[in-house]
Amino acid sequence: MFYKTFLVPCLFLFLGVASSNSELEVYFPLFFKLYKNGTVEKLDKAVPKIPASLDPKTGIQSKDTELGARLYAPKAVNQRAPLVIYFHGGGFSVGSPASLWVHRYLNSLVARANVFALSADYRLAPENPLPAAYEDASAVLRWVAKHVVGSGPEPWLKDPRVDFNRVYLAGEGAGANIVHNLAMQSGLEKFPRFNIVGLILIHPYFLLEKPTKSLLAVNEQERNNNTKLWSYVCPSGNGLKDTRVNPILNPSLSILASKKVLVCLAEKDPLIDAERKYGEALRQRGSKKVEFFLTKGKGHVFHMTKPNSKKASEMLDRVTSFMSV
Ligand SMILES: *[C@@H]1O[C@H](CO)[C@@H](O)[C@H](O)[C@H]1NC(C)=O
Ligand SMILES: *[C@@H]1O[C@H](CO)[C@@H](O)[C@H](O)[C@H]1NC(C)=O
Repeated sequence: MFYKTFLVPCLFLFLGVASSNSELEVYFPLFFKLYKNGTVEKLDKAVPKIPASLDPKTGIQSKDTELGARLYAPKAVNQRAPLVIYFHGGGFSVGSPASLWVHRYLNSLVARANVFALSADYRLAPENPLPAAYEDASAVLRWVAKHVVGSGPEPWLKDPRVDFNRVYLAGEGAGANIVHNLAMQSGLEKFPRFNIVGLILIHPYFLLEKPTKSLLAVNEQERNNNTKLWSYVCPSGNGLKDTRVNPILNPSLSILASKKVLVCLAEKDPLIDAERKYGEALRQRGSKKVEFFLTKGKGHVFHMTKPNSKKASEMLDRVTSFMSV
């Protein structure tokens, strides 16, 4: 009797809890799986990690430094050269300066544009939800700024050829979102001692409140993957009204700490409409000099997996010319 009335229901209750706990709460392909029991599984384990090294293909030398950042020096520059501070993408949840895609892109950027570069590391969501990554990005800027007056620890940044009057903030996807938010923060606090002369936003992760035409053009799963990500990486935020992901709602865009901005767009990126609206708002309400570069026939961050394609090379040329004027 006891067995029937007590143990059996208990067993079912236990099994029920156990199975619902190991169920999937949400799945973002390439980024992460989150289980109902709280376990997070990252989906970038297959992406190789490359140590800082002399890159055999470009001849560019890199080294790892404090705060997990990786530095790159151009080959044989005699004059002063700009510094690019780069933030990798990966849905705020995967990637690092050592990831093959990121390291490869930085090597080719430095080789092509003849610039110094620092590839920043930051804490990843959902374990470390936003604003953790934004805070780490600010810390990187403050750390770099120490070197302007010669007090920082990093010899490569004390190289007199590093031109702190020509600093560019650049990034792709979520990294480009970080660049925008960092530039807003810098404009407000004016904390760095250097001069941010340009932002390079490649396929920035921005959303609007209502699904745009380009989002409606993809299937529901892909649309959800794009829009729901924000609420999982920034659970304390204001959803799609949050100006960190929907910056056109911000009334003070003009404080952005840069006069010129390059926004790279990809025709098949579901985010393209929001990205274009962002650039237009910066131009109209922010009084910034905004340049667009459109890649036809390609999708979100296509260049990271196809770095040697003609279209990736054209975009790299555009990024380079943006920095050479
Ligand atoms: C949560 O569920 C997943 C999937 O079944 C499992 O791999 C993981 O070990 C579980 N974690 C805990 C803490 O039980
Ligand atoms: C994202 O897309 C996959 C299919 O590729 C789907 O299984 C998953 O549920 C989607 N995630 C969300 C949050 O809609």
